[in-house]
Amino acid sequence: EQRHKVTIIGSGNWGSTVAKIVAENTKEHSDLFEEEVQMWVYEEEVTIPKDSPHYDPAVGDAPQKLTNVINKCHENVKYLPNIKLPANLIANPSLVDAAKDSSILIFNLPHQFIHRVSSQLKGHILPFARGISCIKGVEVSDEGVALFSEWIGDGLGIYCGALSGANIASEIAAEKWCGTTIAYDPPPMDSSRNPTPRTQTPSRTHTPSRDGPRDKAAELSITPLADMQHRDARGRASKTRLTPVPVEFPPLDHETFKTLFQRPYFRVRMVSDVAGVSLGGALKNIVALAAGFVIGQGLGDNAKAEIIRVGLCEMLKFGKEFFAETVHPDTFTVESAGVADLITSCSSGRNFRCAKMAVEQGVSVAEIEAKELNGQKLQGTSTAQEVYSFLKKQGLEKEYPLFTAVRDIIEGKYPTTDLLSLIQDD
Ligand code: NAD
Ligand code: 13P
Repeated sequence: EQRHKVTIIGSGNWGSTVAKIVAENTKEHSDLFEEEVQMWVYEEEVTIPKDSPHYDPAVGDAPQKLTNVINKCHENVKYLPNIKLPANLIANPSLVDAAKDSSILIFNLPHQFIHRVSSQLKGHILPFARGISCIKGVEVSDEGVALFSEWIGDGLGIYCGALSGANIASEIAAEKWCGTTIAYDPPPMDSSRNPTPRTQTPSRTHTPSRDGPRDKAAELSITPLADMQHRDARGRASKTRLTPVPVEFPPLDHETFKTLFQRPYFRVRMVSDVAGVSLGGALKNIVALAAGFVIGQGLGDNAKAEIIRVGLCEMLKFGKEFFAETVHPDTFTVESAGVADLITSCSSGRNFRCAKMAVEQGVSVAEIEAKELNGQKLQGTSTAQEVYSFLKKQGLEKEYPLFTAVRDIIEGKYPTTDLLSLIQDD
C-alpha cells in the first residue's frame, strides 16, 4: 500500500506551526503518511544575531538563506522563533519540487500571495491530490466572492477543504491546548471507493522520498477524471471534475485528516460546512480590527463584547445572504472556527493588537504592521477592503455597518472615534 506524502505550502507564523503539528503526526502514523514532510519556504535571507543559540562564528553576520537555517537548526528563526521543529520537516525553496508527488497539500500563507503560488503549481501536482486551506480570507473578483478552499480547488482541479479555529499560532507552537475545526466534504467517490475497513498496521520501514526521482502519477493506475461533479459553497455544480484517490492509498476521509492534524494539544472537530468554516476565519479578522479600535480608545470589555456581538450578527447575515445553500449557522455559534475564533482574535490576535496600537499611537494600521510584525502579514485590512468592494457592487454595504465602518476607517474616511456612531442604528 502507498502512503500519502504531505506538503505545507507556506512557512510563516501559522504555516510553520501547522507544519510542526503535521510532521509530528506523520512520524507517529507512518502506516498512512510518508514520514518526511516538505514545507515550501518563500526564500529570503536572514542574519543570526550574536546572542542567538544558532549563531555560528564561522558564518558571523553574513546573511544566510532561511531554508538552510531551518534545515540546519530546525527552527524558523524569523517567523516562529524559539520553537523546535521536527527533524522530519524539510524546508524547500522550490514550490514545484516541494509539492511533487504529494497527495496532501496544505495551503497556509497570507491570502495576498496565493494567486501566484497557485498559478506556479498548476500542472505540477498529482491529479488525485487533495488540499486543506488554512488561509483566513476570501477571494473577491468580478464574479463575486469565493472561498479560498474552492478557488484553490477549482484552479488546480483538486478538492480542497478548510481548517480554521481559535488558533493563535504562538500558543499552539508552545503546545498550549486548543480546538480547531476542519471542514472536508468531497464528492462521495472518495469515501465509497474503498469500503474495506482500514487496518491500523504498525509503522513500516520509511523510504525517504529523496531516494531517487519518481513519478507517482505514472507509477499508479489512475482512473481518468471521475464523471462526478461537486457542488460549490452556493450549491452550484462546480466546474471541477475530480480524479479519485487510487485504491493503493489510504482513503482521504475525515478519519485520515483527523489523524494528520490532531495532537494532544490541538483538538480537531471534523465537519462538512466548508463555507461556514472558511467565512468564519475570514470575516472575524474585520471584527478583530473593530475590537482593537474600541479598546485603543480606552473603552472596556463591555464595548468589545458588543463589537463581537454585532460582528457575529454580520457574519451570520453574510453567510445566510451569499452562501445560503450550504452554510450552517451553527458553525458560527458552536464551532471553534466561529465564536471561539472571534473571542481569541479580539483578545490577542495580530489584527486586534495592531488596530489597538494604531489608535494609541495615532498612526495607520499599515504603519504598525510594517513596524511591529517583522514580515508577518495582517489579513483583516485587505479582507475589509475586499468584502466592502463586493458588498458595494451588490448595493448592500449599508446593511453591514460594522464591516463597512472598519473599511472606511482604514481608508481614512472617518476617525476611529466614529466607529460606535457608525454602527449604532438609531
Ligand atoms: P505570516 O503572517 O507569518 O506571513 C509571513 C509569510 O508570508 C512568510 O512565510 C513569508 O515568507 C511569506 N511571504 C512574504 N512575501 C511573500 C510572497 N511574495 N510570496 C509568498 N509568500 C510570501 O503568515 P501566517 O501567520 O503563517 O498566516 C497564514 C494564514 O494563516 C493567514 O491567512 C492567517 O490569517 C492564517 N492564520 C494565522 C494564524 C496566526 O496566529 N499567525 C492563526 C490562524 C490562521
Ligand atoms: P491574527 O491574524 O489576527 O493574529 O489572527 C490569528 C488567528 O486567526 C487566531 O485564530
